[in-house]
Amino acid sequence: MQIEGKVALITGANGGLGEAMATRLKKAGASLILSGRRKDALAPVCEKLGAKMIIADLAKPEDVKRLHEEAGQVDIAVLNAALPASGLFLEFDEEFVNRALDVNLRVPIVMAHHFGKQMVERGSGHIVFISSISGKVASLGTSMYSATKFGMRGFALALREELAEKGVGVSTVFPGFIRDAGMFAKTGVKLPGVVGTKSPEDVANAVYRCIAKNVGEADVAAFDQRVGALLAAISPTLVAGIQKNFGGHDVSKQMMSAQRDVR
Ligand SMILES: NC(=O)c1ccc[n+]([C@@H]2O[C@H](COP(=O)([O-])OP(=O)(O)OC[C@H]3O[C@@H](n4cnc5c(N)ncnc54)[C@H](OP(=O)(O)O)[C@@H]3O)[C@@H](O)[C@H]2O)c1
Repeated sequence: MQIEGKVALITGANGGLGEAMATRLKKAGASLILSGRRKDALAPVCEKLGAKMIIADLAKPEDVKRLHEEAGQVDIAVLNAALPASGLFLEFDEEFVNRALDVNLRVPIVMAHHFGKQMVERGSGHIVFISSISGKVASLGTSMYSATKFGMRGFALALREELAEKGVGVSTVFPGFIRDAGMFAKTGVKLPGVVGTKSPEDVANAVYRCIAKNVGEADVAAFDQRVGALLAAISPTLVAGIQKNFGGHDVSKQMMSAQRDVR
């Protein structure tokens, strides 16, 4: 798809990766609609990039409805907003379980329904889902996050087949550990030496490539995580054992602790 001159909506655009995606799509000539939950965080990004701003809490159905109305016609929808939702499952209350499912999975599906219909009517468009390597490899403390990110992958793959003949592309991006900005970087957790990172710009470039070339899936993860994801497709329990032996549980515990209040 040619991005220049198209309208691109990005959710979670004040987040570390969302801002990088917005900057990349702006550079490619898109006009931007940026959505986020906190006006104080989103307004400067919108001002810098000359974007239309829509403040919406995706956990609130009335805000999702208003976002659809205010966005109008969209050519590219990047469904990026998410909660880290890390923690031990039995320590979550039901309200949080539902919120994580809503923000990370149900709402991206509802938005794909709304904007997908529009795009099919016009015979063109592209939907990008931002999943995670945790959508391919589960770890201690990622039960809710992995539930939503694995689910997103299956949904997106099927939707891609459904919309392929209708001129609408569907892609899923799977970031691994991302340095400098975003939900992992904010934890300040130090990774074991064997574990690599990618940058927010790497994720943004993958989003650009997915749209421009209609790529179905893109991993944006260092070598160790890409190999882990490949192996996990064959034997997830083997990968769980390897993670544990290489300090994965320590990293998980530190992340759960650092993200405890991100709700
Ligand atoms: N960073 C990584 O290492 C990494 C790795 C794998 C996958 N990912 C994925 O990449 C995407 C972007 O993450 P990020 O690293 O940029 O995280 P981030 O900096 O925490 O940003 C997340 C964004 O989602 C928004 N959000 C959360 N709950 C919301 C709600 N109820 N309503 C509306 N917006 C809400 C946040 O808004 P507030 O700021 O107002 O909370 C923020 O704009 C996510 O889908 C994440 O799962 C990130």
